[in-house]
Amino acid sequence: MMRLRNTLSAIALLSLSPFANASVDELMADCNDCHGDNGVSQWSDMPTIAGLSVLVHEDALYIYADEARPCSKSEYRQGDTSRPAKTMCEIAAELSEDDIAELAEAYAELPYVRAKQDFDADLAAAGKIVHDKQCDKCHSDEGTNPEDEAGMLGGQMMGYLKQTFDEYAAGTREQPKKMKDKMDLLSEGDVEALIHYYGSVQ
Ligand code: HEC
Ligand code: HEC
Repeated sequence: MMRLRNTLSAIALLSLSPFANASVDELMADCNDCHGDNGVSQWSDMPTIAGLSVLVHEDALYIYADEARPCSKSEYRQGDTSRPAKTMCEIAAELSEDDIAELAEAYAELPYVRAKQDFDADLAAAGKIVHDKQCDKCHSDEGTNPEDEAGMLGGQMMGYLKQTFDEYAAGTREQPKKMKDKMDLLSEGDVEALIHYYGSVQ
């Protein structure tokens, strides 16, 4: 086992990635300077990544590494904020397969914390009706059940959710086929209501 480990780290040393030898703790410190302490965001445009299921998290990182999901430049939110802004695509491309597996495992073990955010109660009530009818099947427990392997919606940051709905509507982020069938039926008002509903899950 020891031998195997040494061989693996020798391979890692050959990689050009600046992060190849970083421990998962060091990597997470970098992630958290954007995503928030323990992966819990305090910024509306930044998703909370604590508590994401391993599969969803790994998938997201591989898709970013392939530049197959929109990724905009983002400033660091804490720590050394003079570091240059970066995109998730650049960040994911610097990770090894082992890094991705370890990061996804580590964040899955951290508690998901629902964001405290302002929402409109009437819109939230309207959104709940749409959610229960169209989305609950795959996004159960108000969209907070990691075992659904479908991301976290209830208590997720509303700015991030809005951006995600825009990307789905524009066709720039791929959706599961059955979800797309339902999304295509939503009006702009439905989407707005859904965002307030998910924001109301606190
Ligand atoms: C420079 C800021 C920044 C850093 C550093 C950063 N992220 Fe992100 N991340 C974002 C932003 C912003 C988004 C939202 C999507 C977008 O705009 O690209 C995001 C989205 C994500 C998502 C998608 C969430 C979802 O529910 O689909 C995951 C997963 C993720 N990041 C994981 C990580 C991990 C793991 C690290 C550390 C290796 C990391 N991020 C480092 C800014 C950052
Ligand atoms: C057939 C199952 C299914 C249905 C129905 C469904 N979804 Fe999804 N949804 C998924 C899966 C699977 C994912 C994860 C896909 C991925 O990682 O890209 C997802 C991801 C999402 C995301 C992105 C989460 C993130 O972290 O970025 C949002 C937002 C979303 N769904 C909203 C909805 C809404 C709103 C409805 C109802 C109108 C809905 N979904 C119906 C399966 C479904």
